[in-house]
Amino acid sequence: MILKLILILSLVIAPFSASAASTQAIQLTPQEGKHAFPFFDTPTTVWSYNDQVPGPTIRGKKGSTISVEVFNRLNEPTSVHWHGLRIDNAMDGVPGVTQDPIQPGDRFTYRLKLNEAGTYWYHPHFNAGEQLERGLKGVLIVEEPEPLPWSQDLVWLLDDWRLDGDGTIFPRFNTRHDLMHDGRWGNVVTINGKRKPEYVVSPGQRIRLRLINGANARIFAPALEGLAANVIAVDGKPVSNIFPFNGFYLSPGNRIDLDIVIPPEAAGKTFLVKDAITREPSVLASLAVTRDSPTETPSFTPPTAEDFIPASIFNDVEMTKTWDLNAIRGGKYGIGWSMNLKLWPASDNADVKIGKRYRITFVNSSTRLHPMHIHGVFFRVLERNGTPAVEPFTRDTVLVGPRETVTIGFVPEHHGIWLTHCHIQSHAEAGMMSTIRTE
Ligand code: C2O
Ligand code: CU
Repeated sequence: MILKLILILSLVIAPFSASAASTQAIQLTPQEGKHAFPFFDTPTTVWSYNDQVPGPTIRGKKGSTISVEVFNRLNEPTSVHWHGLRIDNAMDGVPGVTQDPIQPGDRFTYRLKLNEAGTYWYHPHFNAGEQLERGLKGVLIVEEPEPLPWSQDLVWLLDDWRLDGDGTIFPRFNTRHDLMHDGRWGNVVTINGKRKPEYVVSPGQRIRLRLINGANARIFAPALEGLAANVIAVDGKPVSNIFPFNGFYLSPGNRIDLDIVIPPEAAGKTFLVKDAITREPSVLASLAVTRDSPTETPSFTPPTAEDFIPASIFNDVEMTKTWDLNAIRGGKYGIGWSMNLKLWPASDNADVKIGKRYRITFVNSSTRLHPMHIHGVFFRVLERNGTPAVEPFTRDTVLVGPRETVTIGFVPEHHGIWLTHCHIQSHAEAGMMSTIRTE
């Protein structure tokens, strides 16, 4: 009886983590909201999911299905894309490709089969340069069927905001400056909507730290000062071999999961997590260790990828595709960002077949950054500037640096039209999008 009661209670208080058997129903309401940043007298008007910035963290178990009803209370159309999830193409959330935009006052229900455990996120794919920047984004976690006994599972959504002196969001998007450069970099960096938040940990604890870059354009290079960590997953998927964390370019769209043990002798210390992308590293957040006597550190081996694709299978491939990335005149802003000199929606697409092996080469002919993302697949980075890459993990987003050439390999798995684009929103809005049509 008591057990039953506890079970019922836990279902009631944990609506975002139902069991694998049932379909979890979630409501997401994009709407105007308020968010308090420090150092401004009045709260900032934002666009939010459910009046929260970032939106609610959705958690579901691997193997379960969730249904997300989106009720658009914005004054413009929107959609929700589930970044990194390999799902039915019709649920991918790309207006004009997989669905019609959700009009103001309308609803659309996404049914998502959660096939793989890992760290994902969601955001609009309509007027994205503005909608993400105004605050529309959130984290989606697919839990392992038997969660490992971490002491804490910390989820950090990294973001930046371009705020005016009075705390309002700078209201011009995809400006000429943003387009000529690496998109819109903000002047206020936040983690989960907060500036330099402090998280409390205890000596001996073993932490899973999930870092998600939800910014429009900013690249982060997180660094843990004085703490060792291991990389256990990249872009949602477990790595093939766990390796020490030694810095990582976290581009917009990228995720990285770290395994961190708080040393027993660290009681009372504070560890800073910094962003080393700028010459003067700035503080992102801190981990404050309590003075408690050390707890026993949970011991287990985090999951490693079971279905890791060896790079060697791409030595001989069915198809190669090259996309040259460069700026051209034209498009809706006068400055276009092109793939093979074409601007979305008049793009140069790729046609592929399920189960075959493909190489795609991104040639960055510009001097700007292009974190290239492909929907609905994960891929291996095979070469950078012709030199074999050593990456014991797969990705869904790879940074292609100025004048750099990056070759990736992948095996299409799901039917449909999958978008591929630069995840710097201004670049994508200025045309840097194409599709991979999968039969
Ligand atoms: Cu974060 Cu088109 O994706
Ligand atoms: Cu770009």
